[in-house]
Amino acid sequence: MTTSLRIEGLSAWHGQFRALSDVTMTVEAGQSLALVGANGAGKSTLLRLLCGLMPAWEGMITLDGNPLPKGNPRAASECGLALVPEGRLLFDSLSVEENLLIGQTGRSGPWNLANVYDLFPALAERRRQNPSTLSGGQQQMLAIGRALTSNPKFLFCDEISLGLSPMVVGEVYAALDKVRAQGVSLVIVDQDVRRACAAADEVVCLFKGLVSHRGSAADVTPATIKTAYFGVAP
Ligand SMILES: Nc1ncnc2c1ncn2[C@@H]1O[C@H](COP(=O)(O)OP(=O)(O)OP(=O)(O)O)[C@@H](O)[C@H]1O
Ligand SMILES: [Mg+2]
Repeated sequence: MTTSLRIEGLSAWHGQFRALSDVTMTVEAGQSLALVGANGAGKSTLLRLLCGLMPAWEGMITLDGNPLPKGNPRAASECGLALVPEGRLLFDSLSVEENLLIGQTGRSGPWNLANVYDLFPALAERRRQNPSTLSGGQQQMLAIGRALTSNPKFLFCDEISLGLSPMVVGEVYAALDKVRAQGVSLVIVDQDVRRACAAADEVVCLFKGLVSHRGSAADVTPATIKTAYFGVAP
């Protein structure tokens, strides 16, 4: 079954501070969307909100017309939404394999341990190790693998290439291509806007919590992104 994620008139608050204002966007089934914007634009807030980690929001989020429960990470995961968080947030007291197993939520699908190890052989070799012994790239692979074991329909990747060497970034994006080929929709946040747009069909730019640009990733030019980054609304 195809699933689309619709966000309409979404506003969100950190305490008194309004971090998102009237955000409307759609992620179509099988699509890859680059979510870009300057520091503090609201990208992480939006991804965390979609995964049930922000209780204070207004608006409508639907998955195939069904409203997403508010502030409920377990429900979001069971609906097929998974986050690769900024900074990875691995469980250092657990092994690599235990980190992968903790992602399982009971949703069925292709992403079991064996398939994650096929995608990232370096993790298979290190399955009994502690995440702190892994390289930065391997840790990012583990964070992706942990999200995949929940068998998501939508995978939200926050700051996917932060701190990684160009070669490892290439490996991570190649893995994301394979994930998408399995029918998982992607939302990619990356400071390397060119890289994110190259892997995407659509691009949405946020500026101070507002959508300042949306369109086809193929049509993005440095000028359109620059304008959107610095806040001239469409
Ligand atoms: N826990 C919080 N408490 C208060 N304000 C917050 C909190 N988290 C984020 N903010 C504020 O909300 C706004 C959006 O932050 P967010 O982290 O979503 O931006 P971002 O686009 O992900 O930025 P970056 O590129 O730096 O990761 C910023 O002004 C930030 O300071
Ligand atoms: Mg962020």
